[in-house]
Amino acid sequence: MSTAIRHYLQFTDLSADEYAYLLQRAALLKQKFKTYEKHQTLSDRTLAMIFEKASTRTRVSFETGMYQLGGYVVHLTTGDSQLGRSEPIEDSARVISRMVDLVMIRTFEQSKIEAFARHSRVPVINGLTNEFHPCQILADIFTFIEHRGPIQGKTVAWIGDGNNMANSWLQAAKLLGFTLHVSTPKGYELDEMLALGERADARHLRVFDSPLQACQGAHLVTTDVWTSMGYEEENAKRLQAFADWKVDATMMAAAQPDALFMHCLPAHRGEEVDADVIDGPQSVVWDEAENRMHVQKALMEYLLMGKQTA
Ligand code: CP
Repeated sequence: MSTAIRHYLQFTDLSADEYAYLLQRAALLKQKFKTYEKHQTLSDRTLAMIFEKASTRTRVSFETGMYQLGGYVVHLTTGDSQLGRSEPIEDSARVISRMVDLVMIRTFEQSKIEAFARHSRVPVINGLTNEFHPCQILADIFTFIEHRGPIQGKTVAWIGDGNNMANSWLQAAKLLGFTLHVSTPKGYELDEMLALGERADARHLRVFDSPLQACQGAHLVTTDVWTSMGYEEENAKRLQAFADWKVDATMMAAAQPDALFMHCLPAHRGEEVDADVIDGPQSVVWDEAENRMHVQKALMEYLLMGKQTA
């Protein structure tokens, strides 16, 4: 009997029940990491990491996470593999997935990672595409729960670009039962149809022209760079368009008194966020970055082995 391969290409690829397990499992793995307790459930397994865009957090968190689980990592980039010399993605998937147990890909179009997954013999994880960044949202939700408890029924304010992070936040809001407030400049709106395949209802999405209004009552305020990777030629235009979408102390004051601030990083202080916010007492960006490793360890283990009790 063959078991279907589970991929993690979008936040919607797992159920609310699976997220409940993963979040609790990530907490256990974090506790073991902090107390130097070995946990090597992926002993002798190999993860291939394919990067078509730059990374610090995604590379370090997946690589160290896999070593801690007892496994190995192969690191490939467009520049040092046949991927950059037009070998079809389908052929790359067929070959790489015969030699490794898991694949993590950071690339441009979501269609590329989906094509890879269709031809892969092993689970494929989205390490960021133009459309989605599900591992980051998993880490962000884990971080929120660590600091404030359940996210269900809470309000998250997304300020800035209606990008891959915003799309994944919207998927999470619907799946896990919280409300996303979104404020973007005109022309950079969130694409509800792309994220959900249908219009969102008001329980999960409220759109605001004013970023200050979007922050009102929020339990978490979060943002991202004004120019994501792959859109660099638009930078000058974006600097003008996004000038009013900088998270500052006034916006944080409009949120709940104990609201958290998150940013997936890297950040540009003075552009999408003021230094006194990202370096201030409500910011949890360093926990957020570290938690990438803990949640991804739980995710890799789950995709290969299912639910574990030990
Ligand atoms: N947040 C994030 O994905 O960081 P990197 O681009 O450094 O991997």
